[in-house]
Amino acid sequence: MKIMMLCLGNICRSPLAEALFKLKLPENFTIESRGTSALHEGQGADPRMIETAKMRGVDLTAHRAKGLKSSDLEGFDLIFCMDQDNRNNALSLASTKEQEEKIHLVLEQGQSVPDPYFGGQEGFDLVYELLDQALEKKARILIEKFG
Ligand code: 4NP
Repeated sequence: MKIMMLCLGNICRSPLAEALFKLKLPENFTIESRGTSALHEGQGADPRMIETAKMRGVDLTAHRAKGLKSSDLEGFDLIFCMDQDNRNNALSLASTKEQEEKIHLVLEQGQSVPDPYFGGQEGFDLVYELLDQALEKKARILIEKFG
């Protein structure tokens, strides 16, 4: 089972989502992350996100940003998007119904993980809380379904 976490820049939300999901899922799950924009390709995670995660014992220093490619829609089994824009961008690259059906929002009921990039520390704390809670629940469901 190969899972992608998707945001815009792949330096704030999805790198944290990738790291948290790796901590919550067994090794037969492969977790990566991408950004719909390749603007930050090759860069490390945002220092504010690194610090927010570090305070809770999660290490993001090895992360390097990657942009989403249409071939990723074939290579991954599930894609969890941080917000509706990310989802719409991923859907625009899908070429089959099967690919479209891989693309989901990470939060329930159409909610978004708000982009923290242009805001203060409280935005980064909120990203952490939202993702930690949502992924805990998702991990339980995925383990039950796919072992
Ligand atoms: P992310 O945050 O999508 O959570 O990685 C952002 C990173 C960079 C930009 C926007 C959001 N940016 O405009 O460069």
